[in-house]
Amino acid sequence: MKTSRRKFLKNTVTTMAGIGLASALPNVVSGKAHPLSPNDKLVVGLIGCKNMGNANLKDFLKQPNVECAALCDIDDEWLNLRAKEVADATGVKPKLYKDFRNLIENKDLDAIIVGTPDHWHCLPLVYACEAGKDVYVEKPLANTIGECNIMLKAARKYNRVVQVGQQQRSGKHWKTAMDYIQFGNLGKIRRIKIWCNFNYGGGQLAIPDEPVPEGIDYEMWLGPAPKRPFNRHRFHGTWRLFWDYGGGLMTDWGVHLLDMGIWAMNLTNSPKSVMSIGGIFGSAGHSLETPDTQTVLYEFDNFSIVWEHNGGIQTGPYGRNYGLAFIGTNGTLIADRNNWEVLAEDAGEGKKRTAIVPPQVSDNLDHINHVANFIECVKTRQKPAADIEIGRQAALYAHLGNIAFRTGHKIIWSEEKSKIINDNQANKLVTPAYRKPWQLPKI
Ligand SMILES: NC(=O)c1ccc[n+]([C@@H]2O[C@H](COP(=O)([O-])OP(=O)(O)OC[C@H]3O[C@@H](n4cnc5c(N)ncnc54)[C@H](O)[C@@H]3O)[C@@H](O)[C@H]2O)c1
Repeated sequence: MKTSRRKFLKNTVTTMAGIGLASALPNVVSGKAHPLSPNDKLVVGLIGCKNMGNANLKDFLKQPNVECAALCDIDDEWLNLRAKEVADATGVKPKLYKDFRNLIENKDLDAIIVGTPDHWHCLPLVYACEAGKDVYVEKPLANTIGECNIMLKAARKYNRVVQVGQQQRSGKHWKTAMDYIQFGNLGKIRRIKIWCNFNYGGGQLAIPDEPVPEGIDYEMWLGPAPKRPFNRHRFHGTWRLFWDYGGGLMTDWGVHLLDMGIWAMNLTNSPKSVMSIGGIFGSAGHSLETPDTQTVLYEFDNFSIVWEHNGGIQTGPYGRNYGLAFIGTNGTLIADRNNWEVLAEDAGEGKKRTAIVPPQVSDNLDHINHVANFIECVKTRQKPAADIEIGRQAALYAHLGNIAFRTGHKIIWSEEKSKIINDNQANKLVTPAYRKPWQLPKI
């Protein structure tokens, strides 16, 4: 379908107006016997306070009628600092916890924000759902596919609203890019190329293990992950480069960017197969287990998705260190968090096969809109923009990329059987073994 730029923008405006109307639709997630009404105060608690959890909380506190009544962290330094910041900003002193299970028992809380590392998403979310709390959980939904499946079941069983921190789903310029692609302006999409080059993905020069610093409950930080000596590079922030806690750039950025491919193509299935190659090729002597150099091929019937990342550098194709190129027969749409644009193919005689679209710039409100969307959905009981099923699908794609890399095999995932059907070795990476006393929940 061909759409002129003016018609496209007009259609987009109409679509956006439609989003507002959607809030009048019947509820899709049933909730408490007495759900919050639009003007009721929402009381939230945060688990994992240092970085993204805190960024989330700040945007919650910018919304009307939101109070933070509880904070939990295993590190006294960050717990106390955030407690002071919340009290100074709001005048309310939050209750402080070092064990998230006690925070979840707090009956004053309506919703929980989970801002812990990836290996610590599953249990807090499941326990919070069981306790009747709605959850804003950071991405990737979990550190394994098996945990993601359990979390989805828990959210549905207990009728909870769960927003996953894939805030691009609430980004206006991402929505207009998706509309542009879905209107067919690019012709047939043959390939989606995704790339992601960040210095942090190459780790830092290795440092020795050390005694656990005072004020840190390291046992609680490890939780269900294997016991290991304390090392700062496996801890705050840099845990992402170690398999026990994260999946490197593939899952850290992969879920954000793969999700845009999934959205554009309306993918509800898994890829036909997944292959991956790579290694630690540019970061000798650094602390990391996840590859600094990785390529993943996702096979579909009549197009493919190609993921590439390079940790340790920050330059990339089309002058962008990360992004997506939706390559169609008429043109290529290139997008990142700043803007999207279209490069049109030549049609001969000085004509183009589609209109060139100059950069369509982001309003940079993705994150705050994502938080506002969650709060609205808690009240209306609708599914939020990055409902848990969306988070689970993006995490599935990213984890399959890592499993294909770690086994070196082409793998085939079956949604019906919920397993990799052609490789027993790969299947062992689907569901983690939890270290006692922690147990993978049964839903
Ligand atoms: N949506 C985004 O754009 C975005 C950006 C950055 C990070 N994230 C996600 O946010 C999550 C946290 O990442 P980060 O960069 O903030 O990590 P971080 O290491 O900086 O912070 C994690 C915090 O969780 C605490 N913590 C760990 N285990 C805990 C436990 N059992 N109980 C209570 N607190 C515990 C840590 O002490 C620390 O304060 C990750 O899942 C990450 O992928 C999302």
